[in-house]
Amino acid sequence: MQDERSTEELVALVGVTRTVVLPDDQELHILRGINLRVHSGDHTAIIGRSGCGKSTLLNLLGLLDLPTTGELTFQGEPVKKLRSNARATLRGSAVGFVFQQFNLLPGRSALDNVITPLLYAKGRDFWKRRDLAMDMLDRVGLSHRAQTRPTMLSGGEQQRVAIARALVRKPRLILADEPTGALDVDTGQAVMTLLDTVATESGAALVTITHDVNVAALARSCFRLDQGVLSPTAVPSVVHA
Ligand SMILES: Nc1ncnc2c1ncn2[C@@H]1O[C@H](COP(=O)(O)OP(=O)(O)OP(=O)(O)O)[C@@H](O)[C@H]1O
Ligand SMILES: [Mg+2]
Repeated sequence: MQDERSTEELVALVGVTRTVVLPDDQELHILRGINLRVHSGDHTAIIGRSGCGKSTLLNLLGLLDLPTTGELTFQGEPVKKLRSNARATLRGSAVGFVFQQFNLLPGRSALDNVITPLLYAKGRDFWKRRDLAMDMLDRVGLSHRAQTRPTMLSGGEQQRVAIARALVRKPRLILADEPTGALDVDTGQAVMTLLDTVATESGAALVTITHDVNVAALARSCFRLDQGVLSPTAVPSVVHA
């Protein structure tokens, strides 16, 4: 029998559009009628050219933005019915974001950055939070840099701190925007394996945006975004350097 958790629908987009109004009053139709369902246990890659709307789509999946039209549901609940603080609470407990630009707090140590998502979790004392964060920093190979500020870390190290921060609360939905963009091939493979392992351990879903076919090759399903339209496509094969 299939594990019940693996079939739970986490997030669904039905006929979703996202349009923004530019300073000259022109409308930019970034996403046009997107249909996508993400279930626990999924590992999905989304590929597409720069500027095609991938980050915009990920922001919707992660409840950072709302659709212009169409239906967005999270665990079956329509998101537009939630007040913005309820949406933020749900996002904080259920979604782990690895942002394309990392979005680390520059004035805080690597460890403090990884602890941040745990500050909003109930019932965890300081040392437990610190241990969880240290353990996650260790898993991305950075426990020796725990007290270092992000501005003193390399781009790849900052990316690994961002990944530790996204995973530390064991979210149901992990959204990774170019998670290997700043990493060399070997570190990139190690980080993708970590993302996949943590997702599998906790029965979470992993959605990865990537330009890298070798990263997309690790996914179990793949979609291509082109001119605001999302279509299923074959998972690419690994390309050897
Ligand atoms: N709030 C906004 N206002 C105006 N334009 C926007 C806004 N958000 C996104 N865009 C535009 O929409 C398009 C899609 O942006 P998005 O960041 O989703 O692309 P992307 O596929 O993630 O690109 P990349 O691969 O380069 O990261 C871009 O042309 C971007 O300039
Ligand atoms: Mg982007």
